[in-house]
Amino acid sequence: MTTPVNVTVTGAAGQIGYALLFRIAAGQLLGPDVPVRLRLLEIPQGVKAAEGTAMELDDCAFPLLAGIDIFDDPRAGFEGANVGLLVGARPRGPGMERGDLLEANGGIFKPQGEAINAGAADDIRVLVVGNPANTNALIAASNAPDVPKDRFTAMTRLDHNRALTQVAKRAGVPVSEVRKVSIWGNHSATQYPDLFHADVAGRPGAELAADSAWLTGEFIPTVAKRGAAIIDARGASSAASAANAAIDHVFDWVNGTPEGDWTSAGIVSDGSYGVPEGLMASFPVVSRGGTWEIVQGLEISDFSRERIDASVAELVEERDAVRGLGLI
Ligand code: NAI
Repeated sequence: MTTPVNVTVTGAAGQIGYALLFRIAAGQLLGPDVPVRLRLLEIPQGVKAAEGTAMELDDCAFPLLAGIDIFDDPRAGFEGANVGLLVGARPRGPGMERGDLLEANGGIFKPQGEAINAGAADDIRVLVVGNPANTNALIAASNAPDVPKDRFTAMTRLDHNRALTQVAKRAGVPVSEVRKVSIWGNHSATQYPDLFHADVAGRPGAELAADSAWLTGEFIPTVAKRGAAIIDARGASSAASAANAAIDHVFDWVNGTPEGDWTSAGIVSDGSYGVPEGLMASFPVVSRGGTWEIVQGLEISDFSRERIDASVAELVEERDAVRGLGLI
Protein backbone atom coordinates (compact mmCIF):
# COMPACT_ATOMS: atom_id res chain seq x y z
CA MET A 1 0.00 0.00 0.00
CA THR A 2 1.33 3.47 -0.82
CA THR A 3 1.78 5.93 2.05
CA PRO A 4 -1.63 7.21 3.16
CA VAL A 5 -2.46 10.88 2.73
CA ASN A 6 -3.23 12.60 6.03
CA VAL A 7 -6.53 14.45 5.85
CA THR A 8 -7.41 16.67 8.82
CA VAL A 9 -11.08 17.55 9.12
CA THR A 10 -12.18 20.15 11.67
CA GLY A 11 -15.75 20.19 12.93
CA ALA A 12 -15.72 16.45 12.33
CA ALA A 13 -18.72 15.86 14.59
CA GLY A 14 -20.88 18.43 12.84
CA GLN A 15 -23.44 17.82 10.13
CA ILE A 16 -21.11 18.58 7.21
CA GLY A 17 -18.48 16.40 8.87
CA TYR A 18 -20.93 13.52 9.00
CA ALA A 19 -21.71 13.89 5.30
CA LEU A 20 -18.05 14.33 4.37
CA LEU A 21 -16.01 11.75 6.23
CA PHE A 22 -17.55 8.65 4.66
CA ARG A 23 -16.95 9.99 1.18
CA ILE A 24 -13.33 10.81 1.98
CA ALA A 25 -12.83 7.32 3.37
CA ALA A 26 -14.45 5.86 0.25
CA GLY A 27 -11.75 7.48 -1.90
CA GLN A 28 -13.78 10.28 -3.43
CA LEU A 29 -11.64 13.17 -2.15
CA LEU A 30 -8.35 12.23 -3.75
CA GLY A 31 -9.04 9.31 -6.05
CA PRO A 32 -9.90 5.63 -5.94
CA ASP A 33 -6.29 4.47 -5.48
CA VAL A 34 -5.22 6.82 -2.71
CA PRO A 35 -5.27 5.55 0.88
CA VAL A 36 -6.17 8.15 3.51
CA ARG A 37 -5.61 8.56 7.21
CA LEU A 38 -8.29 10.71 8.85
CA ARG A 39 -7.39 13.17 11.59
CA LEU A 40 -10.55 14.50 13.18
CA LEU A 41 -10.28 17.79 15.05
CA GLU A 42 -13.07 18.86 17.37
CA ILE A 43 -13.55 21.00 20.42
CA PRO A 44 -13.59 18.93 23.64
CA GLN A 45 -17.42 18.85 23.72
CA GLY A 46 -17.43 17.37 20.20
CA VAL A 47 -14.93 14.60 20.80
CA LYS A 48 -17.41 11.98 21.99
CA ALA A 49 -19.63 12.42 18.94
CA ALA A 50 -16.52 12.27 16.72
CA GLU A 51 -15.65 8.97 18.40
CA GLY A 52 -19.08 7.68 17.45
CA THR A 53 -18.54 8.71 13.83
CA ALA A 54 -15.12 7.02 13.90
CA MET A 55 -16.81 3.81 15.09
CA GLU A 56 -19.16 3.98 12.12
CA LEU A 57 -16.27 4.63 9.77
CA ASP A 58 -14.59 1.51 11.15
CA ASP A 59 -17.81 -0.39 10.59
CA CYS A 60 -17.73 0.45 6.90
CA ALA A 61 -14.43 -1.44 6.45
CA PHE A 62 -13.32 1.02 3.78
CA PRO A 63 -10.31 -0.53 2.04
CA LEU A 64 -8.64 2.88 1.57
CA LEU A 65 -9.02 4.02 5.18
CA ALA A 66 -5.64 3.54 6.84
CA GLY A 67 -6.61 4.92 10.26
CA ILE A 68 -8.55 7.49 12.27
CA ASP A 69 -7.24 9.72 15.05
CA ILE A 70 -9.26 12.22 17.06
CA PHE A 71 -7.89 15.44 18.55
CA ASP A 72 -9.08 18.48 20.45
CA ASP A 73 -5.81 20.35 20.03
CA PRO A 74 -5.10 22.01 16.67
CA ARG A 75 -1.32 21.53 16.95
CA ALA A 76 -1.77 17.79 17.23
CA GLY A 77 -4.61 17.67 14.71
CA PHE A 78 -2.61 19.32 11.91
CA GLU A 79 0.66 17.50 12.57
CA GLY A 80 1.72 16.00 9.25
CA ALA A 81 -1.51 17.02 7.49
CA ASN A 82 -1.42 16.93 3.69
CA VAL A 83 -5.00 18.16 3.29
CA GLY A 84 -6.89 20.33 5.78
CA LEU A 85 -10.65 20.70 5.54
CA LEU A 86 -11.56 23.50 7.93
CA VAL A 87 -15.25 22.98 8.46
CA GLY A 88 -15.79 23.77 12.16
CA ALA A 89 -16.68 27.41 12.75
CA ARG A 90 -18.62 29.57 15.12
CA PRO A 91 -22.15 30.23 13.84
CA ARG A 92 -23.75 33.63 14.23
CA GLY A 93 -25.69 33.62 17.50
CA PRO A 94 -28.69 35.78 18.40
CA GLY A 95 -27.78 39.45 18.61
CA MET A 96 -24.27 38.83 17.33
CA GLU A 97 -22.92 41.61 15.11
CA ARG A 98 -20.66 40.85 12.15
CA GLY A 99 -17.64 42.14 14.11
CA ASP A 100 -18.40 39.70 16.94
CA LEU A 101 -18.71 36.88 14.45
CA LEU A 102 -15.38 37.72 12.82
CA GLU A 103 -13.71 37.94 16.21
CA ALA A 104 -15.16 34.62 17.40
CA ASN A 105 -13.98 32.92 14.23
CA GLY A 106 -10.60 34.57 14.50
CA GLY A 107 -10.30 32.70 17.78
CA ILE A 108 -10.62 29.47 15.77
CA PHE A 109 -8.82 30.18 12.49
CA LYS A 110 -5.80 32.06 13.88
CA PRO A 111 -4.64 29.15 16.06
CA GLN A 112 -5.46 26.71 13.27
CA GLY A 113 -3.33 28.73 10.84
CA GLU A 114 -0.52 28.74 13.38
CA ALA A 115 -0.86 25.00 13.87
CA ILE A 116 -0.71 24.41 10.11
CA ASN A 117 2.37 26.59 9.94
CA ALA A 118 4.01 24.68 12.76
CA GLY A 119 3.35 21.10 11.82
CA ALA A 120 1.56 20.43 8.55
CA ALA A 121 3.31 18.59 5.72
CA ASP A 122 5.14 20.63 3.08
CA ASP A 123 2.46 19.92 0.49
CA ILE A 124 -0.45 20.99 2.74
CA ARG A 125 -3.57 22.14 0.90
CA VAL A 126 -6.30 23.85 2.90
CA LEU A 127 -9.95 24.34 2.09
CA VAL A 128 -11.95 26.54 4.46
CA VAL A 129 -15.65 25.70 4.51
CA GLY A 130 -16.63 27.26 7.86
CA ASN A 131 -18.23 30.67 7.49
CA PRO A 132 -17.41 33.44 6.87
CA ALA A 133 -15.27 31.17 4.67
CA ASN A 134 -13.28 33.72 2.67
CA THR A 135 -12.22 35.78 5.64
CA ASN A 136 -11.61 32.73 7.83
CA ALA A 137 -9.29 31.45 5.08
CA LEU A 138 -7.54 34.81 5.00
CA ILE A 139 -7.03 34.65 8.77
CA ALA A 140 -5.64 31.12 8.61
CA ALA A 141 -3.34 31.97 5.67
CA SER A 142 -2.07 35.13 7.36
CA ASN A 143 -1.12 33.15 10.43
CA ALA A 144 0.84 30.58 8.47
CA PRO A 145 3.67 32.73 7.08
CA ASP A 146 5.84 29.76 6.05
CA VAL A 147 3.11 28.16 3.93
CA PRO A 148 2.65 29.51 0.39
CA LYS A 149 -0.52 31.61 0.26
CA ASP A 150 -1.87 29.66 -2.69
CA ARG A 151 -2.30 26.61 -0.44
CA PHE A 152 -5.20 28.30 1.34
CA THR A 153 -8.59 28.40 -0.33
CA ALA A 154 -12.20 29.16 0.58
CA MET A 155 -15.15 27.18 -0.69
CA THR A 156 -17.41 28.69 -3.32
CA ARG A 157 -17.83 25.39 -5.15
CA LEU A 158 -21.27 24.89 -3.63
CA ASP A 159 -22.36 28.21 -5.13
CA HIS A 160 -20.81 27.13 -8.43
CA ASN A 161 -22.67 23.82 -8.41
CA ARG A 162 -25.91 25.57 -7.50
CA ALA A 163 -25.45 27.91 -10.47
CA LEU A 164 -24.81 24.97 -12.84
CA THR A 165 -28.10 23.36 -11.88
CA GLN A 166 -30.14 26.56 -12.11
CA VAL A 167 -28.79 27.18 -15.61
CA ALA A 168 -29.41 23.57 -16.67
CA LYS A 169 -33.00 23.72 -15.45
CA ARG A 170 -33.66 27.01 -17.18
CA ALA A 171 -32.21 25.77 -20.47
CA GLY A 172 -33.78 22.31 -20.17
CA VAL A 173 -30.43 20.54 -20.67
CA PRO A 174 -28.57 18.02 -18.52
CA VAL A 175 -26.30 19.66 -15.96
CA SER A 176 -23.35 17.86 -17.55
CA GLU A 177 -23.81 20.08 -20.60
CA VAL A 178 -23.36 23.33 -18.67
CA ARG A 179 -19.81 24.62 -18.42
CA LYS A 180 -17.92 27.73 -17.43
CA VAL A 181 -20.23 29.44 -14.99
CA SER A 182 -18.33 31.61 -12.52
CA ILE A 183 -18.78 32.73 -8.94
CA TRP A 184 -17.10 36.02 -8.14
CA GLY A 185 -16.38 37.62 -4.77
CA ASN A 186 -17.52 36.49 -1.36
CA HIS A 187 -19.32 33.32 -0.30
CA SER A 188 -22.22 35.41 0.97
CA ALA A 189 -25.43 36.90 -0.38
CA THR A 190 -23.32 39.52 -2.24
CA GLN A 191 -21.63 36.88 -4.42
CA TYR A 192 -22.00 37.29 -8.17
CA PRO A 193 -22.90 34.16 -10.13
CA ASP A 194 -21.92 34.99 -13.72
CA LEU A 195 -23.21 33.07 -16.71
CA PHE A 196 -22.15 35.49 -19.45
CA HIS A 197 -19.18 33.27 -20.35
CA ALA A 198 -20.98 29.98 -19.84
CA ASP A 199 -21.40 27.29 -22.45
CA VAL A 200 -24.91 25.85 -22.24
CA ALA A 201 -25.09 22.75 -24.43
CA GLY A 202 -23.04 24.57 -27.05
CA ARG A 203 -24.90 27.88 -26.82
CA PRO A 204 -23.57 31.01 -25.13
CA GLY A 205 -24.78 31.62 -21.58
CA ALA A 206 -25.23 35.25 -22.63
CA GLU A 207 -28.35 34.14 -24.54
CA LEU A 208 -30.00 33.06 -21.30
CA ALA A 209 -28.66 36.11 -19.50
CA ALA A 210 -30.34 38.34 -22.10
CA ASP A 211 -33.60 37.73 -20.22
CA SER A 212 -32.76 40.31 -17.61
CA ALA A 213 -35.93 39.72 -15.55
CA TRP A 214 -34.91 36.08 -15.07
CA LEU A 215 -31.24 36.95 -14.58
CA THR A 216 -31.69 39.58 -11.89
CA GLY A 217 -35.02 38.43 -10.48
CA GLU A 218 -34.43 34.68 -10.35
CA PHE A 219 -31.03 33.31 -11.28
CA ILE A 220 -28.76 35.57 -9.25
CA PRO A 221 -30.90 35.65 -6.07
CA THR A 222 -31.71 31.93 -6.24
CA VAL A 223 -28.00 31.05 -6.27
CA ALA A 224 -26.89 33.75 -3.83
CA LYS A 225 -29.64 33.06 -1.29
CA ARG A 226 -29.85 29.30 -1.67
CA GLY A 227 -28.25 28.71 1.72
CA ALA A 228 -31.03 30.63 3.46
CA ALA A 229 -33.71 28.86 1.39
CA ILE A 230 -32.33 25.49 2.48
CA ILE A 231 -32.31 26.48 6.14
CA ASP A 232 -35.90 27.61 5.71
CA ALA A 233 -36.97 24.31 4.12
CA ARG A 234 -34.84 21.83 6.01
CA GLY A 235 -34.58 23.54 9.36
CA ALA A 236 -30.81 23.07 9.12
CA SER A 237 -28.14 24.42 6.82
CA SER A 238 -26.87 22.65 3.72
CA ALA A 239 -24.74 19.71 4.73
CA ALA A 240 -24.59 16.94 2.13
CA SER A 241 -24.33 19.45 -0.72
CA ALA A 242 -21.62 21.37 1.14
CA ALA A 243 -19.71 18.14 1.76
CA ASN A 244 -20.12 17.23 -1.91
CA ALA A 245 -18.72 20.62 -2.96
CA ALA A 246 -15.73 20.20 -0.65
CA ILE A 247 -15.03 16.83 -2.28
CA ASP A 248 -15.33 18.38 -5.76
CA HIS A 249 -13.00 21.26 -4.82
CA VAL A 250 -10.19 19.14 -3.43
CA PHE A 251 -10.52 16.44 -6.11
CA ASP A 252 -10.15 19.03 -8.87
CA TRP A 253 -7.36 20.86 -7.05
CA VAL A 254 -5.31 17.67 -6.80
CA ASN A 255 -6.31 15.97 -10.04
CA GLY A 256 -6.89 18.99 -12.32
CA THR A 257 -10.04 20.50 -13.80
CA PRO A 258 -11.36 18.93 -17.02
CA GLU A 259 -10.16 20.41 -20.31
CA GLY A 260 -12.59 22.92 -21.74
CA ASP A 261 -14.17 23.78 -18.42
CA TRP A 262 -13.43 25.74 -15.30
CA THR A 263 -14.77 25.95 -11.78
CA SER A 264 -14.90 28.55 -9.00
CA ALA A 265 -12.85 28.82 -5.84
CA GLY A 266 -11.93 31.41 -3.27
CA ILE A 267 -8.19 31.96 -3.67
CA VAL A 268 -5.74 34.73 -2.85
CA SER A 269 -6.10 37.44 -5.46
CA ASP A 270 -3.07 38.37 -7.55
CA GLY A 271 -4.84 41.57 -8.57
CA SER A 272 -6.63 40.00 -11.55
CA TYR A 273 -9.88 41.64 -12.64
CA GLY A 274 -9.23 44.59 -10.34
CA VAL A 275 -9.68 42.49 -7.17
CA PRO A 276 -7.17 43.88 -4.64
CA GLU A 277 -4.10 41.70 -4.30
CA GLY A 278 -4.08 39.52 -1.20
CA LEU A 279 -7.86 39.37 -0.81
CA MET A 280 -9.36 35.87 -0.55
CA ALA A 281 -11.92 36.15 -3.34
CA SER A 282 -13.77 33.76 -5.61
CA PHE A 283 -12.76 33.65 -9.26
CA PRO A 284 -13.27 31.36 -12.23
CA VAL A 285 -10.30 29.02 -11.94
CA VAL A 286 -8.63 26.00 -13.48
CA SER A 287 -6.32 23.63 -11.67
CA ARG A 288 -3.10 22.61 -13.42
CA GLY A 289 -0.33 20.64 -11.76
CA GLY A 290 -1.96 20.96 -8.35
CA THR A 291 -2.24 24.77 -8.45
CA TRP A 292 -5.28 26.95 -9.01
CA GLU A 293 -4.94 29.52 -11.79
CA ILE A 294 -7.38 32.35 -12.43
CA VAL A 295 -8.99 32.17 -15.87
CA GLN A 296 -7.69 35.25 -17.64
CA GLY A 297 -8.99 37.46 -20.41
CA LEU A 298 -12.73 37.35 -19.72
CA GLU A 299 -14.60 40.41 -20.83
CA ILE A 300 -16.40 41.98 -17.89
CA SER A 301 -19.50 44.01 -18.75
CA ASP A 302 -20.63 47.02 -16.71
CA PHE A 303 -23.42 44.82 -15.31
CA SER A 304 -20.92 42.25 -14.07
CA ARG A 305 -18.38 44.86 -12.93
CA GLU A 306 -20.87 46.51 -10.61
CA ARG A 307 -21.74 43.20 -8.96
CA ILE A 308 -18.17 41.97 -8.64
CA ASP A 309 -17.17 45.30 -7.11
CA ALA A 310 -20.00 45.15 -4.56
CA SER A 311 -19.00 41.70 -3.35
CA VAL A 312 -15.31 42.59 -3.32
CA ALA A 313 -16.14 45.71 -1.27
CA GLU A 314 -17.68 43.43 1.34
CA LEU A 315 -14.50 41.33 1.40
CA VAL A 316 -12.42 44.48 1.85
CA GLU A 317 -14.62 45.48 4.80
CA GLU A 318 -14.22 42.05 6.38
CA ARG A 319 -10.46 42.12 5.82
CA ASP A 320 -10.21 45.58 7.37
CA ALA A 321 -12.29 44.44 10.36
CA VAL A 322 -10.07 41.42 11.08
CA ARG A 323 -7.00 43.55 10.55
CA GLY A 324 -8.40 45.98 13.13
CA LEU A 325 -8.84 43.05 15.51
CA GLY A 326 -5.19 42.08 15.06
CA LEU A 327 -6.16 38.72 13.50
CA ILE A 328 -4.12 39.21 10.32
P1 NAI B 1 -22.32 22.13 12.76
O1 NAI B 1 -22.66 23.15 13.80
O2 NAI B 1 -23.20 20.96 12.54
O3 NAI B 1 -20.87 21.56 13.05
C1 NAI B 1 -19.77 22.36 13.37
C2 NAI B 1 -18.83 21.52 14.18
O4 NAI B 1 -17.61 22.27 14.36
C3 NAI B 1 -19.33 21.18 15.58
O5 NAI B 1 -19.24 19.77 15.77
C4 NAI B 1 -18.40 21.95 16.50
O6 NAI B 1 -18.16 21.27 17.73
C5 NAI B 1 -17.15 22.02 15.64
N1 NAI B 1 -16.20 23.09 16.02
C6 NAI B 1 -16.48 24.33 16.47
N2 NAI B 1 -15.36 24.99 16.74
C7 NAI B 1 -14.34 24.17 16.42
C8 NAI B 1 -12.93 24.26 16.53
N3 NAI B 1 -12.35 25.37 17.00
N4 NAI B 1 -12.19 23.21 16.13
C9 NAI B 1 -12.76 22.09 15.68
N5 NAI B 1 -14.09 21.91 15.60
C10 NAI B 1 -14.87 22.94 15.97
O7 NAI B 1 -22.12 22.98 11.41
P2 NAI B 1 -22.12 22.46 9.92
O8 NAI B 1 -23.51 22.46 9.41
O9 NAI B 1 -21.31 21.24 9.82
O10 NAI B 1 -21.39 23.69 9.19
C11 NAI B 1 -20.05 24.00 9.45
C12 NAI B 1 -19.69 25.33 8.83
O11 NAI B 1 -19.77 25.29 7.41
C13 NAI B 1 -20.57 26.50 9.24
O12 NAI B 1 -19.75 27.62 9.51
C14 NAI B 1 -21.41 26.74 8.02
O13 NAI B 1 -21.86 28.09 7.96
C15 NAI B 1 -20.42 26.46 6.94
N6 NAI B 1 -20.97 26.20 5.61
C16 NAI B 1 -20.25 26.66 4.54
C17 NAI B 1 -20.68 26.46 3.25
C18 NAI B 1 -19.90 26.99 2.09
O14 NAI B 1 -20.40 26.87 0.97
N7 NAI B 1 -18.72 27.56 2.24
C19 NAI B 1 -21.94 25.74 2.99
C20 NAI B 1 -22.60 25.25 4.18
C21 NAI B 1 -22.13 25.49 5.44
